[in-house]
Amino acid sequence: MNNIKACIFDLDGVIVDTAIYHYKAWRRLANSLGFDFTEQQNEQLKGVSRVRSLQLILGWGGITKTEAEQEQLATQKNTWYVEMINQMTPAEILPGAREFVQSCRDAGIKTALGSASKNSMTILEKLQIVHLFDAIIDGNKVTKAKPDPEVFLKGAEALGIEPQYCVVFEDAIAGVEAAKAGGMKAIGIGDPKVLYEADLVVSGLKEMTLDKL
Ligand code: BG6
Ligand code: MG
Repeated sequence: MNNIKACIFDLDGVIVDTAIYHYKAWRRLANSLGFDFTEQQNEQLKGVSRVRSLQLILGWGGITKTEAEQEQLATQKNTWYVEMINQMTPAEILPGAREFVQSCRDAGIKTALGSASKNSMTILEKLQIVHLFDAIIDGNKVTKAKPDPEVFLKGAEALGIEPQYCVVFEDAIAGVEAAKAGGMKAIGIGDPKVLYEADLVVSGLKEMTLDKL
């Protein structure tokens, strides 16, 4: 991976583990509709947009809702989710994440956030790491969900770096696919068997060093 000039980071599952809060809020919603779903099913929601997540969950419960009802349910879930993320503190940053992003910056490598979440600013503020990113592209700025590369291409554009000089850090299969579709390198965070399309897989940013780029 020569000539890397920019690192683009996914948020949920890479910088912070918000999956547990998403799971709790979605579960509360499912329970209010009279069914439940497992942690294993929850895995399928990682990296997936809010609307798509709701559609998958309703499918598991065998429930059909109108578009207006779906919007109401997604808003309810988000209200519960935001209540939880508002309680987050900098202690919840995943091990090595802050240090690695900072080491990129110290080496003159540009940094961006590329997240599907519409709540990313709240989370970055709670973690006190907004200043670590030269550009922030999130669910409010894109129209196409991962695996479409839009979020990462917009990140590269905001940084003024061509895609082939960018590397994306992702914990979701759809995110790794998005990076590759955008002509970027991808470093998977998680299980190499799951993220086999990535150029390299590490267990977390604590394992990352600049010489691996
Ligand atoms: C992704 C998460 O980062 O953001 C998904 O992995 C989530 O689980 C998606 O559904 C959208 O997040 P939000 O905060 O806009 O509902
Ligand atoms: Mg993620």
